[in-house]
Amino acid sequence: MTTVTLRRPDDWHVHLRDGAALGAVVKFTAERFGRAIVMPNLKPPIATVELARGYRDRILAALPQNSRFEPLLTLYLTNDTTPQEIDRARAAGFIHGVKLYPAGATTHSDAGVTDIAKVSGVLARMENIGMPLLVHGESPHPDVDVFDRETHFIDAVLQPLLGRFPGLRVVFEHITTARAVEFVAGARAGVAATITPQHLLHNRNAIFSGGIRPHYYCLPILKREGDRQALLGAATGGTPRFFLGTDSAPHERATKESACGCAGMFTAHAALELYAEAFESVGRLDRLEGFASCFGADFYRLPRHDDTITLVKESWVPPQVYDFGHGALVPYRGGEPVAWRIADSRAA
Ligand code: NCD
Ligand code: ZN
Repeated sequence: MTTVTLRRPDDWHVHLRDGAALGAVVKFTAERFGRAIVMPNLKPPIATVELARGYRDRILAALPQNSRFEPLLTLYLTNDTTPQEIDRARAAGFIHGVKLYPAGATTHSDAGVTDIAKVSGVLARMENIGMPLLVHGESPHPDVDVFDRETHFIDAVLQPLLGRFPGLRVVFEHITTARAVEFVAGARAGVAATITPQHLLHNRNAIFSGGIRPHYYCLPILKREGDRQALLGAATGGTPRFFLGTDSAPHERATKESACGCAGMFTAHAALELYAEAFESVGRLDRLEGFASCFGADFYRLPRHDDTITLVKESWVPPQVYDFGHGALVPYRGGEPVAWRIADSRAA
C-alpha cells in the first residue's frame, strides 16, 4: 500500500461562511489542517477587529469536540479602513492578514476597494508593521476579458503596488496563469502565492465538457492547459513562494445551478487528497510536504506543526451532496473517485 506521511498541513485560503453553513463545512477543514487563513467576505464583511473577534468565536464554537484547529482571521479591506484598525488587528493577535478585493471582482466583493490610492495610508501602516496583504488579483472592469483579468491586474495594479510599498508582504491569492507564476517567481522578497487544487487538476475545458458545468465555475476562472502546467510546475517545484490555499468556497446548490450561478468550488472535504493526486501526476509526492505544511507557515511567521497526517493511496467516492445547514452542497468530485484518502492523523 502506498502511503505518504506529512507534517500537518495548513490551508492558507479558505471560505468557511457563517451560521448553519459554517457548522456544516468547518469539520472538513479541521480534520485535515492545523490552521487556516479564513476569508472575510461575509455579509456584512469582516472589516473590523470586533467583527473578526465575533466570527472567530463562532468558528471555534462550530468545531468538532477536541479539535485543535486554529482559525487565522483576516480583515476585509475597504475604502474606509483606517491605519488605527490595522494597529488594533496586530494587537488582537488572531488576525494574520488583510484582504484586498477589488470592488466587483468576486463573491461579496462589492464593499471592496475601488482605487488603491484610497488605501495608501493603510498599506503604509501594514508595510511598517509587517502585516501581510492578501490580494484577489483580478481587474474587475467589464471591458477586460474574463480570462485576462489576472494578467491585467498584474500590470495595472500589482506591479506598481509592489514598487510603491517595497516592504509590504503580499500573497497573490489563488493564482491561475503562467504569467502569474512567472511574476511571483521573479518578484522581490516578501511576495508569495497560493494555488488551489482545481487549478492544478483542470483547465477551462472542465467548465464546458458536454454542457455547462456550474460546479467547475470559480474565480479566478480555470485557464488554459499551459497555465495549468505552469501552476503544477510552481507547486511541485520546491520553491517556498508557492504554497497551499484551497479557496474552498461552498455555495448552496440552487445558487450555483442557476441562470446566474455563483462562483466557487467546494473542495474542503478532499482538499489534501486532491493535492496528492496533482503532485503524484508529476511524480513529486516528495514535494507535497513543503508546499502543504512548511512554506506557508514560514511566510506567515508561524511555527510549523509537530504532528502528522498520513495519506493512503486507496480510492473513495465522496457523496453527491453534503448537508449545508439550510440546503444542499455539491462537492467537487461528488460521486466520482478520489485516489487518495486520509489514513491517520497523529498528535505529536
Ligand atoms: C469565492 C467565494 O465564493 O467566496 N469564490 C470563488 O470563486 N473563489 C470568492 C473568491 O475567493 O474569489
Ligand atoms: Zn477565495
